[in-house]
Amino acid sequence: MCGIVGFVGYEGDALPFLLEGLKRLEYRGYDSAGIALAQPGRIAVSKAQGKLAVLEQSLQSMPQGIPCGIGHTRWATHGRPTDENAHPHTDCQGVIAVAHNGIIENFQELRDELEASGHQFRSETDTEVIPHLLEVYGGADDLVAAVRQAEKRLKGAYAFLAISAQKPDIIVAVRRSSPLVVGLGEGVNYVASDVSAFLAHTRQAQVLENGDLAVISPGRIQVTDAHGHKRNPKTLTVDWDIRQAERGGYEHFMLKEIMEQPDVWSDCLLSRIHEDKVVVGEMGLTAKLLEGIHRIQVVAAGTAYHAGLVGKALIERLARVPVDVSVASEFRYQEPVLDPGTLVMAISQSGETADTLASMHMAQDEGFPVYSIVNTVGSTLARDSNYVGYTHAGPEIAVASTKAYTTQLLVLTMVALALAENRGRARPDLVRSLLALPKAGQKVLEDLEHIQEMAARLAEHSDVFYIGRGIDYALAMEGQLKIKEIAYIHAEAYAAGEMKHGTLALIEEGTPVVAIVTERAVAEKSISNILEVKARGAEVWAILDNKLGRRVPVDHVLPVPVPDPLLVPVLAALPLQLLAYWTAVTRGQDVDQPRNLAKSVTVE
Ligand code: M6R
Repeated sequence: MCGIVGFVGYEGDALPFLLEGLKRLEYRGYDSAGIALAQPGRIAVSKAQGKLAVLEQSLQSMPQGIPCGIGHTRWATHGRPTDENAHPHTDCQGVIAVAHNGIIENFQELRDELEASGHQFRSETDTEVIPHLLEVYGGADDLVAAVRQAEKRLKGAYAFLAISAQKPDIIVAVRRSSPLVVGLGEGVNYVASDVSAFLAHTRQAQVLENGDLAVISPGRIQVTDAHGHKRNPKTLTVDWDIRQAERGGYEHFMLKEIMEQPDVWSDCLLSRIHEDKVVVGEMGLTAKLLEGIHRIQVVAAGTAYHAGLVGKALIERLARVPVDVSVASEFRYQEPVLDPGTLVMAISQSGETADTLASMHMAQDEGFPVYSIVNTVGSTLARDSNYVGYTHAGPEIAVASTKAYTTQLLVLTMVALALAENRGRARPDLVRSLLALPKAGQKVLEDLEHIQEMAARLAEHSDVFYIGRGIDYALAMEGQLKIKEIAYIHAEAYAAGEMKHGTLALIEEGTPVVAIVTERAVAEKSISNILEVKARGAEVWAILDNKLGRRVPVDHVLPVPVPDPLLVPVLAALPLQLLAYWTAVTRGQDVDQPRNLAKSVTVE
């Protein structure tokens, strides 16, 4: 996720503050960085691919003692991580600079229009349309009016800061979804993606709301809302320490990443649904490719493999296209038989998992196209695959995958719906319902406040079974991996109907079982399996379709709404993740950095 920082003072030097602020935002993940300073008549810009240490070297040639500037750490979404694509971006004359976080959905159409009228673009980014639009609307002379005009043309979820060489004593800040906070100093004001960037200088902050436009000058903050009405944001005193601030006040990155999922889902869905249809081009696919697919072979590891199992059910049920799912470390040595018309689908958060990369290259060597579902732009998987669909989850810092998993599920759902549409099996009702998931997810998270007590009870055990049928079984596999990796509890996922063929012998008084029942077509069967383990003394935690109410005699109920069983996996993942998280916390484990594990597994 990109980081933005700004400094405007009556006097002083913005440069050291901007660099320090960017360092504080490093935890968000980035692949390039840059700084722009507003001098009278000229904007000085320095930017570089790679870490801040690389940028730091080029800052020696920047003017010193300039009290107005903006900085940015970029996590690539549109365009590779390169010097040219790093922010800030400027207009043709080099008198306006912009740093931006989020996505400008209609950037291509704006870019075509601006290029047609003579504007010269220097990057592949969506961001660069903003300074050129500001130029069109006279931003060099009246930056505030130009931002207001330009804003009307932009679609998407974003935040940006703009500065101008003709007015080097203000920063104009716009928030449309991506967060921005203003820090209040003495004769100087700050603005950043989060408070950690300026906490060493001030604890007084004003949070901008969605739709706000703020004109930040050294002695004054003027905020107007989406309708242009004046707004007086409350000034807060932030009492977090810097580490806490980086985590948005949460104790661990994992909890932050779980809780931000509804917002992340909105980013993932953004621009991909139009008039009850999936926009195939926005998924990195083409109609021709979809038409030629006779079979899909998924390759992935860990959590991404579990996402593939859910994807198999969705694609087979909606589009009737057969799907095989393989663990990448097995696939690469299996001498797999791939039929003509097979699309290989590689799923990965990091895009650097060695086994997944090897599987992709092997398939390509045999002439099969690869579509990757990946989170990290510029990763090897994204670069080397033939087609790419990004999950847009932002950087995932905790080793345990949470938001990357649920966005993989969303992308797989959209792929399944696009394939279904392509085969004359369109489901506009489901496409429409996808847009309601972020709101439903927010409600599920709010309703799970009591989950800590349930987790405390689970934390007393050293073995646990996870059971379910169909998609619920695939979810059970992800649930058991989560609790193993962060709570260090031995866990096993079982197809609920398979227990009686041997494993039921292990159920005795007090054996913990987590059961998932959201698949309506087999709910009665799953309930029977729950009764079988209950009859043998199991203590059952159940993630239940909330329509089942109190009918299922379990010990701990975690209800989830089921808009449609095919859309519920992202919602049901939330209690699974939180149950594992709070169990690990109760057991005092290092949640974000579990023992023996790495975030990116680049070895075999
Ligand atoms: O980066 P990838 O998605 O390719 O990583 C695959 C697995 O290593 C990863 O999902 C791992 O299982 C997670 N730690 C699970 O939470």
